Amino acid sequence: MSTPARTPFVAGNWKMYKTVAETVKYVKEFRARVKDIGGVDIVLAPPFTALHAAAEAARASNVALAAQDLYWQREGAFTGEVSGPMIREAGAEYVIVGHSERRTLFGDTDDAVRQKVGAAFAAGLTPIACIGETLDQRERGDTFEVLDRQIRLGLDGLTSDQLAQLVVAYEPIWAIGTGRTATPEQAGEAHTHIRGRLRQWFGAEPGEACRLLYGGSVKVANIADLIAQTDVDGALVGGASLEVADFCEIVSRCRPAAV
Ligand code: 13P
Repeated sequence: MSTPARTPFVAGNWKMYKTVAETVKYVKEFRARVKDIGGVDIVLAPPFTALHAAAEAARASNVALAAQDLYWQREGAFTGEVSGPMIREAGAEYVIVGHSERRTLFGDTDDAVRQKVGAAFAAGLTPIACIGETLDQRERGDTFEVLDRQIRLGLDGLTSDQLAQLVVAYEPIWAIGTGRTATPEQAGEAHTHIRGRLRQWFGAEPGEACRLLYGGSVKVANIADLIAQTDVDGALVGGASLEVADFCEIVSRCRPAAV
C-alpha cells in the first residue's frame, strides 16, 4: 500500500521581533501574496502580544497562526506564563514547543517539553516539537543519540493519532541564526533517522504521517535543495521569515510539484 503524501508545512518563527502594528501590516501583505499557493500549510508564529491581532488579520485566509511556547497548566499563579487554552482563544492552531532557545536560555528540559506537548494537544493545539544537537554533540558523533533522547523523553506517552498530527522540527543548534545551514545531505540523514525512530516507537503509519521540518538558516537560496530530501516535509524559518518577500518565496518553493 502506498503512503499518502504529506502536505508540506512552512512556519515562520518570528522570535522576539515585530510589534502589533508591524505584525498586522505584514499579515495583510503576506496573505494577499500567498492566497493562491495551494497544497502547503502556511503558519506564522508572532510573539504572544501580537498573536490575536495576527489571527484577526489572517481570518479567512490560508495563513494559520502559532504561538512560540506555552505553559502546561490551564491557569493559576504562574507569573509570566501563557496557557494552551489562552493561545487557542487568541486564534492560534499551533504552538512551538522545545525550541533550542527555550532549552538553552530558559531551561526547558525534555520533561518540560513532554508536559507542554501534552498540554498543547489537550487545548486543541498542534505542537511543533523542536529537537536538535549542538555543534559539540555533532562533532563527538552523538547526534543520533541526542535526537533519540529528545524524541523518547519529549514525546513519551503520545497516542498514534497524536503522533500522526504532530509536527517535528529538526533544528541543529549550530545552524540557527549562524548562516551555516546543514547541507541537504546532513538534513536528509537526520530526518530519515528521526522518521525511522518515530515509525519504530509509535508505529509505521503515524511515523509516516508526522511532518518533519528542517530549521536553521533556511533562506530562499537553500530551501529547494532541503525540501527535495525525502523526509524533509517543510521548514521552520527564523530570520528569513521576517521579510514578506523572502518568506513568500520560501513558501512558494515548498509547493508540491503538481499544484
Ligand atoms: P534562523 O532561520 O534565523 O536560523 O532560525 C531558525 C530557527 O530557530 C527557527 O525556529
